[in-house]
Amino acid sequence: MADPAGAGAPAILPLAGSDLSWRAGDVEILREVSLRIEPGTRNIVIGPNGAGKSVLLRMLHGLLAPSGGQLAWATADPLRIRRGQAMVFQRPVMLRRTARENIEFALRVGGMREGVRAAARAALARVGLASLEDRPARLCSGGEQQRIALARAWALRPEILFLDEPTASLDPAATRAIEEIIAAMHAAGTTIVMTTHDLGQARRIADRVLFLHRGRLVEDTPAREFFQQPRSPEATAFIKGELLW
Ligand SMILES: Nc1ncnc2c1ncn2[C@@H]1O[C@H](COP(=O)(O)OP(=O)(O)OP(=O)(O)O)[C@@H](O)[C@H]1O
Ligand SMILES: [Mg+2]
Repeated sequence: MADPAGAGAPAILPLAGSDLSWRAGDVEILREVSLRIEPGTRNIVIGPNGAGKSVLLRMLHGLLAPSGGQLAWATADPLRIRRGQAMVFQRPVMLRRTARENIEFALRVGGMREGVRAAARAALARVGLASLEDRPARLCSGGEQQRIALARAWALRPEILFLDEPTASLDPAATRAIEEIIAAMHAAGTTIVMTTHDLGQARRIADRVLFLHRGRLVEDTPAREFFQQPRSPEATAFIKGELLW
């Protein structure tokens, strides 16, 4: 997995967004967000509820078209762009199939033809759910579904992985296991863009912190610097637990 893009495939990163906006009716949810996601980095997006974190991740992942501004990958090849990324959503999205079949389906869509079952099993084992392979995914608990979703993303070997609060409904041991998998994926070359409300987790994972407030990217700061002394009054209040929306 040292080369998530596959030997010789064009890299899809860096990803550059300039003046990205997103409107829902009359309301501007994201306002002129400009950022650059460099290969190999761990970018943590934080901010209060409703700040626009999930909207931003969905837009970067290609699920929401910007109402304004531009998003540019390093390649123009749409298939590479699609296959080079995976996302774990705040609420896991599971098909009406078993846990293993959910992963097999994603692998086939991603172009895998051989060894699909073995790869899906290995992915479930990676998140400690080998025994659940034949259980309908939708009957699995919320935390189990979140882990299946991460297993599915891991199996795809993406160049970039978007994670929207992947450990929000997990117990401490499962949270640690997920953080280990994220670390392993990063060590193998996957770029991480993740949201979390767990500031301890943000400190453990981040190289860089993107702080969103009311749809604006208020800070884009190296993690160590951010946690020592944020640049903005909003982020300073946020990490003290004093910023309300
Ligand atoms: N499809 C939509 N239509 C209208 N408004 C939306 C839509 N999706 C999100 N919003 C609004 O956009 C704002 C930002 O939502 P978003 O889900 O990105 O917040 P968030 O930062 O992820 O919050 P949380 O920490 O609660 O997950 C919210 O006010 C939300 O109600
Ligand atoms: Mg969200």
